[in-house]
Amino acid sequence: MLSARGLFTEILDNDESFRLFCSIAASGETQGGWENGRIAALVPPGLAELAPKIARHGADEDKHGRIFNGLMHGRGLDPAPVPADTDYTMLLEHAGIGLAHSRLRKDQPLSEQDIVTYLAHSRVTEQRASEQMALLLKHFGDHPEIGRAVRQIARDEDNHLAYCHEELLRLAAAGHGRLIHRTLHECALAEIRVYREVSLAVMAHMGELLHWSAAKSATLRAGIRAVYAYERVAGRRRMTSLTMPARRNALGGGPVAAEATT
Ligand SMILES: [Fe+2]
Ligand SMILES: [Fe+2]
Repeated sequence: MLSARGLFTEILDNDESFRLFCSIAASGETQGGWENGRIAALVPPGLAELAPKIARHGADEDKHGRIFNGLMHGRGLDPAPVPADTDYTMLLEHAGIGLAHSRLRKDQPLSEQDIVTYLAHSRVTEQRASEQMALLLKHFGDHPEIGRAVRQIARDEDNHLAYCHEELLRLAAAGHGRLIHRTLHECALAEIRVYREVSLAVMAHMGELLHWSAAKSATLRAGIRAVYAYERVAGRRRMTSLTMPARRNALGGGPVAAEATT
């Protein structure tokens, strides 16, 4: 029963756990949308061609936030408060990863190094988003309630990841290679730790809502720690490597599709 499919089915089948799952997801997506919107507005003149892609990235994340809110709305549920220990985006910021919100609130153009920081942070977090959505797609891509949302978000996250690879490779060719390499490694190390903490916290909250036994919770915690140990030793490369994607200019194709806003 402790398969990813079984666990998520349990979460999906209970209104309170579904509400918490969607609330956490919507909040993370909306924060990502805001960050990207600010970065798009502050792109330095030398990288102006990136601004519309960053804006598109932000618009996609905002759209994902609306999709998760829409899923709750479909069941007549309101968003739940997001526990601080499940707030992935905020915890990454507190770990010093990515661009600080205080910096993004200022109306001062970013530097090229700041854009490298943004793209490296996105390369790592979009890898996570894309893998998580791929897992949901595998098990719930045809689900009558969430299948359409899952398919759409999974497609978008793959595009975000492709865009990060392509733009980082472009910046590496322009002379930022060492900074990119170092930043990717710092981001990946911090991300796998924050992901472990957030996973433990989410499962603790879900366990309370779903009345999981102590043994089941302990097994889940052990599983999360095993994933961390693997990622720390061997799994980080998938977050720090750069490969030119098959799909080029994944975020250059104009405005966000209208169907997404429903
Ligand atoms: Fe997203
Ligand atoms: Fe994304």
